[in-house]
Amino acid sequence: MRLDEAEVHARVGEILDAHEAMEGPLLPILHAVQDAFGHVPLEALPQIAERLNLSRAEVHGVMSFYHDFRSQPHGRHVIKLCRAEACQSMGADRVAGHAQARLGIGWHQTTADGGVTLEPVFCLGLCACGPAALVDGRVVGRVDEARFDRLLEEVRP
Ligand code: FES
Repeated sequence: MRLDEAEVHARVGEILDAHEAMEGPLLPILHAVQDAFGHVPLEALPQIAERLNLSRAEVHGVMSFYHDFRSQPHGRHVIKLCRAEACQSMGADRVAGHAQARLGIGWHQTTADGGVTLEPVFCLGLCACGPAALVDGRVVGRVDEARFDRLLEEVRP
């Protein structure tokens, strides 16, 4: 869905008004924009940069440093797989490879039908039960290839 440019401009303006007096406002602003639109529309970056007196490259750099910010809307379901060390030692790489092959997408991508977005995440605090995943916000432990397939069937019957 294409966002209305005037609507983005107006809503981002309100968010900037509400946050610009804060100390270190950039991250809260990016979070608020993502909450408002489900992602951070790239057309919002020049407006944010101008108001905070930063370059567009600086704003873009911060946004791409943090994995949680998305420049595209995500799919109807979001599956996050833990990529941190404890989960890796329990086979997270294998599960990640399986997930990518099964969905036909890479990290931060969404399946062509808009159904599932695959994201990496770095520790969900469930290290003892790795590999861990977050499926539409629900934490799931001991995710092997078979469990991944079952999770996928649950969200995409
Ligand atoms: S390392 Fe995966 S949940 Fe902590």
